[in-house]
Amino acid sequence: MSKVPTLRLDRLLANMGYGSRREVQSLVDAGLVTLDGIEIEDSDQRIAVTRDLSERMRIRGKPLDPPPGLALMLHKPLGVTCSHKEAGPLVYGLLPDRWRRRDPAISTIGRLDKDTSGLLLMTDDGTLLHRIISPRANISKRYRVTLDRPLRGDEAEIFSAGTLMLENEDKPLLPAGLEVISSTSAYLILTEGRYHQVRRMFAALGNHVMALHRDRIGGLTLPDDLEPGQYRLLGEADLAQVLPRPAGN
Ligand code: URA
Repeated sequence: MSKVPTLRLDRLLANMGYGSRREVQSLVDAGLVTLDGIEIEDSDQRIAVTRDLSERMRIRGKPLDPPPGLALMLHKPLGVTCSHKEAGPLVYGLLPDRWRRRDPAISTIGRLDKDTSGLLLMTDDGTLLHRIISPRANISKRYRVTLDRPLRGDEAEIFSAGTLMLENEDKPLLPAGLEVISSTSAYLILTEGRYHQVRRMFAALGNHVMALHRDRIGGLTLPDDLEPGQYRLLGEADLAQVLPRPAGN
């Protein structure tokens, strides 16, 4: 069993964006931090950072934010960006203010273009992030694509062959799956994530992507009741749907 990490309360809360260590000490002195209903007296008390800490600790009477090791899914709306390098509002602005002051910081697990909506995962856990984005993990991502022109009919064969070369690249794409929905819409299932990949794949065949929406990563589907701009924390069971099982299991 892995050991539960412990942290000084002032360090933990400061890292979670509740203020400087001095400010956290003031909260403690004012009796505003409780654990299991009992006021904490010393801001240097060591706290076991367990998953259930949000249910057990209260700050100013409110449940503690999710402790470090959080993962969430966001329904990314159109028009917001995943990258500080792009102009426009960032996905991080859709999270509570305090979450943006956390250390370790929350970052996106992969990216979606500004003009793409749908399922975006975020975490402050570097190990989890790398497990999901590693090419070896081979995790599928499903995109609903709306096209400018009707499908030609040979797209599924070309995409599944694993031979398509995109402009300015020297390695062919991995095989991808296409499920036709109508003459101008389809699901495209990828296991890699090259720059603007979906748009470039259809451009390579003379078409143009009008709308793009990701609705699934691995076995995790964007819930119908998660509106654009809303997020939801992920539990172990959700993450098990995303991550492939270790070999042999
Ligand atoms: N492919 C794209 O072209 N854009 C995305 O956002 C994701 C995949």
